[in-house]
Amino acid sequence: MVLTGRLAVLLKVSYGQACLYLGSLLIILLSFLLVRQLAKQRRPRGFPPGPTPLPVIGNILSLASEPHVYMKKQSEIHGQIFSLDLGGISTVVLNGYDVVKECLVHQSDLFADRPSLPLFEKMTKMGGLLNAKYGRGWIEHRKLAVNSFRFFGTGQKTFEHKISEECMFFVDAIDEHKGKPFDPKLLVTNAVSNVTNLILFGNRFAYDDHEFQHMIEIFSENVELAASGWAFLYNAFPWIEILPFGKHRKLFHNAAEVYVFLQQIVERFAQGRTRQSPRHYIDAYLDEIEQSAGDPAASFSQENLIFSVGELIIAGTETTTNAIRWAMLYMALYPSVQGRPPALEDRLRMPYVEAVLYEVLRFCNVVPLGIFRATSGDALVRGYSIPRSTLVITNLYSVHFDEKYWSHPEVFSPERFLDGNGNFVRREAFLPFSLGRRHCLGEPLAKMEMFLFFSTLMQRFSLQFPPGVVPSLTPKLGMTLQPLPYAICATRRQQ
Ligand code: HEM
Repeated sequence: MVLTGRLAVLLKVSYGQACLYLGSLLIILLSFLLVRQLAKQRRPRGFPPGPTPLPVIGNILSLASEPHVYMKKQSEIHGQIFSLDLGGISTVVLNGYDVVKECLVHQSDLFADRPSLPLFEKMTKMGGLLNAKYGRGWIEHRKLAVNSFRFFGTGQKTFEHKISEECMFFVDAIDEHKGKPFDPKLLVTNAVSNVTNLILFGNRFAYDDHEFQHMIEIFSENVELAASGWAFLYNAFPWIEILPFGKHRKLFHNAAEVYVFLQQIVERFAQGRTRQSPRHYIDAYLDEIEQSAGDPAASFSQENLIFSVGELIIAGTETTTNAIRWAMLYMALYPSVQGRPPALEDRLRMPYVEAVLYEVLRFCNVVPLGIFRATSGDALVRGYSIPRSTLVITNLYSVHFDEKYWSHPEVFSPERFLDGNGNFVRREAFLPFSLGRRHCLGEPLAKMEMFLFFSTLMQRFSLQFPPGVVPSLTPKLGMTLQPLPYAICATRRQQ
């Protein structure tokens, strides 16, 4: 009203005429935005087919519940490679093992980028490691992380011993529940993140460190929010940021809080550092910043240090924690798989433990859609043209339920990873850590952790649900799939 009044004075016209001018202007603006949006929604020439998108929002609504299942179903109609429109963002979805391998391995360079989506731009400016664009910054950060994980972690003889120590803290804390029902989520999260913490900071955090717990909690809330409908909406229409409501606000608030906390712990653990004599990832990173100080194109910076530390903490914690929580849930569900207590024949039984964990990773799909990729140049796949910078989703769930490679994929069966003599067998279409240039760099660590935590747990306890309770197996949706909170009883096995 005030604006219309001022316009009327300015243009020396009546109030009614000013209303008319302003209304027409608004209609022109909206029409322009609509035409621009519809143009953005046009499928590029030679692009794979896909379900018909709605005007403006495209296929976003279809992703509201179980997007990985929706995408697998769509691939049965449109083919292993099909397209979606995420509100003007042309997206290609890869389904089933064959096409995922064709793209991520046979055209590894072309499928190694990350999409410049507004959400990621805002959170990490496409720097750091996990979200970094494919180029020098990513190469430098990946190399430093891989070397640090080897040097301060899996490559060290004493590291297995350090994980075993954490396993002991973990089972002792479970023992405190004395066989009574408890939700293992917090304990597993703390124990698992401590293994990454040893590499990053050379330190573990006590299970009653509420500050650290709070940081992990809001960080993992963000992993969930990052795959919510709001996140897709924000990526398509970043101007919704001005709205005084919406889940994106929570996301940004959490991120800001996490970065302040990370800044503090980075400063704390850098104290007492000796140059070129790193004790952990932080020290090694600070050495890199100093070494590259004269190079204007270098990617190492205080800001990217915080981003990469955050990404390593959450990528290591959220995934491995959920895998162990699913494993515990399925053990209580299938007591026959838990079997009798491992004893002298432990060694012989190890392939079975391994098979159980592999089947949990296949069946439960901790990261069902991988981490979004993008094309780094124009690509040609099965006759379809995919332009540079197209968003690419790898449906890893569809790989693990690919009937060509798995018989009865809907059945939980560790035996599929064993041969007739009980030896462990690898399966080609087992891709929980994805493939190609950006495949998970924490794979060796995750496997070591899962094996040690799970076998220590099963050696000391048998797991049951509280009498008369069978928890839901429906996952909670997000970038990762996690079980809904459940209570379990851990009863000490007879020694
Ligand atoms: C069961 C445990 C884990 C699973 C299922 C898992 C799965 C994945 C998947 C699917 C990706 C996406 C790869 C792609 O872009 O195609 C990924 C990337 C990544 N993971 Fe893991 N992960 C696990 C544990 C870990 C651990 C323990 C760490 C480190 C502490 C870690 C660090 C990373 C990083 C840094 C990336 C990004 C790599 C890049 O962009 O170059 N992950 N992970």
